[in-house]
Amino acid sequence: MRVALLPGDGIGPEITASAVRVLAELAPDLELDEHPFGAAAIRATGTPLPDETLAACRAADAVLKGPIGDPEFDAADVRPEQGLLRLRSELGVYANLRPSRAGGIDLLIVRELVGGLYYGARGVREDGTAFDTCEYHPSQIERIARRAFELARTRGGKLTSVDKANVLETSRLWRRVVREVAADYPDVDVEDMLVDNAAMQIADAPQQFDVIVTENMFGDILSDLAAAVTGGLGLAPSASLSDNGPGLFEPVHGSAPDIAGNGSANPAAMLRSTALLLEHACGRADEAAAVERAVDRALAEAPTPDLGGTATTAEFTAAALRALTVEGA
Ligand code: NAD
Ligand code: IPM
Ligand code: MN
Repeated sequence: MRVALLPGDGIGPEITASAVRVLAELAPDLELDEHPFGAAAIRATGTPLPDETLAACRAADAVLKGPIGDPEFDAADVRPEQGLLRLRSELGVYANLRPSRAGGIDLLIVRELVGGLYYGARGVREDGTAFDTCEYHPSQIERIARRAFELARTRGGKLTSVDKANVLETSRLWRRVVREVAADYPDVDVEDMLVDNAAMQIADAPQQFDVIVTENMFGDILSDLAAAVTGGLGLAPSASLSDNGPGLFEPVHGSAPDIAGNGSANPAAMLRSTALLLEHACGRADEAAAVERAVDRALAEAPTPDLGGTATTAEFTAAALRALTVEGA
């Protein structure tokens, strides 16, 4: 199996090195090919997603990606984030799974990833007004709703569909389509929730949730919140899946420019994304579970500063590798 590796920007290369070491230990047969992406690619080639990188991602069995983004390009015409949106769209990875677990909380956000505000018509009018538009076709809602129902069926059997149907036309369509799909899943308990209330409920009583399905922008915001209430952004992984073709595996967090280069980034989200890759792209559930356990051990033995500890990225990685070798022996 071939994995296209996109280390990305900021802390990206630091946490990617950690994932590479874990894969070398656990799955040395995986072929890892590194490609430029994000700000690093803009500097090298003038574009955040070079053709060669896109072709390699398409040809791979999976893509493992570090975060991208650099303050240097925040106001530029060509930005790293444009490359990420294009990559998601080109790969058709519409289903973004963002799990968070801690204590009594076991929440899976299923975020629609290739539609909505991120991909609608946009521009700046002559008078200076800027606009972004949110559009959804019923088929885009139906396919993500089906994914979420299927996932809820294999978990706690509960699905919360989050929208803003009291204001938005796209949300009223969202609600209608989710209800239609629900008829095929009588075994799943489904509820609608408005996004403002959902944010409050995730902050206040996250144990009530099993699977949340929502549109692109709401999912972006709520998944950082869900990460925060389950230990922090440094822990939160994601898997972005299409119906066929390579999946994209990346942490929920960004390139953390404030700590880049310190050697103190928490690699847990990247390692958990690697576990999701082993599970979803390679069908290697046992190895995925081994990575999960190794991360849990490292979190207990060598917590990084974001968790109140003092371990470096390298020390955390060493603890995870020790856990894997002890287990494998
Ligand atoms: P961020 O997620 O990079 O950082 C938010 C805060 O969390 C910072 O204080 C940071 O130090 C901390 N943090 C994040 N990940 C951490 C880790 N693994 N270990 C320890 N601390 C961690 O969000 P931001 O600062 O708003 O964005 C920075 C850049 O990242 C922007 O350019 C943004 O566009 C980009 N971004 C990229 C992705 C992605 O590639 N998928 C995701 C989110 C943001
Ligand atoms: C994420 C990020 C991206 C998003 C940005 C970098 C385009 O915040 O993966 O959550 O908004 O999807
Ligand atoms: Mn985000």
